[in-house]
Amino acid sequence: MSICYLNGKFLELSEARVSVLDRGFIFGDAVYEVIPAPGGRFFGLDEHLVRLERSLAAVQIAAPMAAEGWSAVLNELLVRNAGGDVAVYLQVTRGVAERDHAFPRDITPTVFAMCKPLPAQQGLARVSAITLPDNRWGRCDIKSTSLLANVLLRNEAVRRGCYEALLVRDGRLTEGAASNVFVVHGGRVRTPPLGPALLAGVTRGLIIDALARAGCEVEEADIEVAELAGADEIWLTSSSRDLVCVATLDQRRIGDGEHYPIAATALAALAAERQRRESAA
Ligand SMILES: Cc1ncc(COP(=O)(O)O)c(C=O)c1O
Repeated sequence: MSICYLNGKFLELSEARVSVLDRGFIFGDAVYEVIPAPGGRFFGLDEHLVRLERSLAAVQIAAPMAAEGWSAVLNELLVRNAGGDVAVYLQVTRGVAERDHAFPRDITPTVFAMCKPLPAQQGLARVSAITLPDNRWGRCDIKSTSLLANVLLRNEAVRRGCYEALLVRDGRLTEGAASNVFVVHGGRVRTPPLGPALLAGVTRGLIIDALARAGCEVEEADIEVAELAGADEIWLTSSSRDLVCVATLDQRRIGDGEHYPIAATALAALAAERQRRESAA
């Protein structure tokens, strides 16, 4: 897992070098993706590349390559790292320039990608979470590496012995510090609607579609923080962990703390979609 890609070359991670004037280092002026490849095969690559293109356009970084180019580079990276259960971390920064907030026009983006292990997932994981005020910026739909608020929020959750922080803005749930959130009440499944307040998670989208095919409609609707305590199920979704259940929120049990039947259906529907794509490939 030690081979990375940097600006057109595959090389040992320990040998990869980026200028200290890179705007990704100086300003966090960069966007990224984390793309899962269980068994060494990408799941959701097209969706991740579409979102990457959206993020690049939103921050006015010219796309360094088109989807076919990304696909070739990232698949080659998997091959060079000999597969396994990995996720590819891909980052595009605006590039190297004299330090100035305003950016020059003719600047070459820095492109970096590496593999990291995908956490092992066996069935439905159960985790603890806390709620915290969402103090991030107003464009959380852009997958930017400027993650200081997310870092502090997740770290506060971990410091309090929890896995994730569920973020609340104006009394409503937005998402987790590094995940999207689904909430179930009496069989009704909701997730907060897309917009600038949250990331359009690829796993979120895959689960909404997979559940619809299994006959369960997810409502993209606002969720008041006051509703969370009475939820039957709360799940967190992300590309690296698929779906995990929140068994306790702010030290209060969610549901019976053990059984999360709709989450199990969602996880099975996601696995079926992965299987279907692998068979079709
Ligand atoms: C803030 C935030 N929301 C949601 C997600 C989930 O997105 P995805 O399912 O595309 O991994 C992530 C993933 O890292 C994230 O950082």
